[in-house]
This record gives sequence, C-alpha cells and structure tokens, in this order.
Amino acid sequence: MHYNVIRAEETGATDITQEVIAQTRACLEADGWALLRGFKSDMNGFSELTAQLCTTITFDPAREYSEKNTQKVDAGLGPVGLHIENGNTPICPDIVAFYCTRAAFEGSQTTICDGRAVFEKFDAGQKARWSQKMKVKRNLPEELWKRYLANEHPAISHPDEVTEEHIIQFKAAIPGQDFTLRDDGSIDYELTVSPVRPSSLTNGQAFANAILGPSHNYEKPEYMLEDGSTVSPVEIEALRELAESCTVEINWQDGDIAVIDNTRVMHGRRAIKDADRQLFIGMGRV
Ligand SMILES: [Fe+2]
Repeated sequence: MHYNVIRAEETGATDITQEVIAQTRACLEADGWALLRGFKSDMNGFSELTAQLCTTITFDPAREYSEKNTQKVDAGLGPVGLHIENGNTPICPDIVAFYCTRAAFEGSQTTICDGRAVFEKFDAGQKARWSQKMKVKRNLPEELWKRYLANEHPAISHPDEVTEEHIIQFKAAIPGQDFTLRDDGSIDYELTVSPVRPSSLTNGQAFANAILGPSHNYEKPEYMLEDGSTVSPVEIEALRELAESCTVEINWQDGDIAVIDNTRVMHGRRAIKDADRQLFIGMGRV
C-alpha cells in the first residue's frame, strides 16, 4: 500500500475540481483510498464531494447527526479496531469519507488497512475459512432499530411510524437478514455477510468486515461461519495482529479529506489524546 496523498500544491489549485475527483477515483481503484490535502474545504464542500462519488448517501443513526450528508465521528476516546463502516448492517456503504476540520495535536491517527493485502497474506486454510459466509447475531434495542428502519424504509421517516409490517417488508427487501421481536421491544437480529468480499469499485477479494471493529453503539455480536464454527476471541486477536501488519496511519492535518473504498479497505483509529480534534464522516453507495 502507498501513501495516496493528493496535494493541492501539486495540482496547482486549491479547488476540488473534476480533475481532482478523477485522481481520487484513480487512487480508489489502485489502492482503495486517497487523502486530499491542502484543498479549500468546508462542510458543504465535503458533502458535495461525497455526493459526487456516491449516488446514494447513507446514514448511521447510532451517531450524532450533523449536516445534510455528514455525521460527526463520535465513539469515545479509546482506540477503535479495524472495520468497514456499517459492516454489520444489511446495507453497507461502498464509499466512506472523513473530513478533519480540526486535527489533533498528537495521537488520534486514523488507521487504514487494505483488506486485499490481508487476504493475500492468509494461508490456504485461512483463505478457505474466511471465504465462507458468516452469520452475525446480536440484540438491538427498540430505539436503535426503529431509528434505523425509519431511515432505510422508503415509506416512513420517523421512528414512531415503524410497525411490525415495516420489519416484514424490510426483511423481504434485503436478503440475508432475520429479525425476532422480543417482549421488551428489542429485536434479535441475524445477518449473513461475506467476510471476504469483492470490492464494489474494483472487484478482487478482500478481508473487509467488522470483526475486528468496535461495538460501542451496539451489543457485541456473535459470529458464526457457514461450517458451524464460531469465531473465537483468540482467533480475532490473531487476525488483528495480521491486519496490523498491513496497516498505515493518517496523521491528520486541518482540512484533510480521506476517501475510502469501504468494500475493500478497513479503517479504525489510535487512541485520542487530544479530545478537541474534529472529524466528520460521510458515506454512500456508488
Ligand atoms: Fe468507522
């Protein structure tokens, strides 16, 4: 993996022009990510860039909403393990973009790991094991799944409007998921994902999932592979070590924008030492 920095000083202008967007796409194709540095940027410009790269903008309701297409990245101060964004939901974004309005004085680097490189480092046994489908199981509190459904279901816009009928429709619309309503209003949620998957942008096989990632906003999921075996904490730690060997860090500067192929490249972060840093996220589907 390379450092894919597109610098305004090298392109000769500080506007994010169509040429810069074309360069961004070329980096996404080659390495799965790009960092735009030194460009004139504000929240609207960031929103626009995300909208240019995606045809649909998605939203994670577990996070604080900020502007039209963006959400503030807000998950405590500890390090966050590598994951693809919304990797444990039925609709995972193809592209994730981050905008740093205020860089940290120290620490708080975003980690970037090319899942294609991880897959290539696997031995034959690991390649076969992780090429199976995987069931992700967890319990979601009522407030959370209703907010999620209100956003994703085309017929409704507010959590109060959600009924059991909408769950049935949503289940039918997106294959690979199952819901069981509990008496306390929460649902037991089961989703089938492919932990190794082709990129939506460039194909190829990548270890791209949320197994190593956080579950700040949700109950920690259980993972079960198609052959009936579960993914143990020991196995997860070994994977974490291997992924770390394919990881680079973004040392943010004010105004930086990172764009990531979320179907190939996982991201996370080191511990936050400077709580004043500000990072926003935008994401969507191509
Ligand atoms: Fe994330």
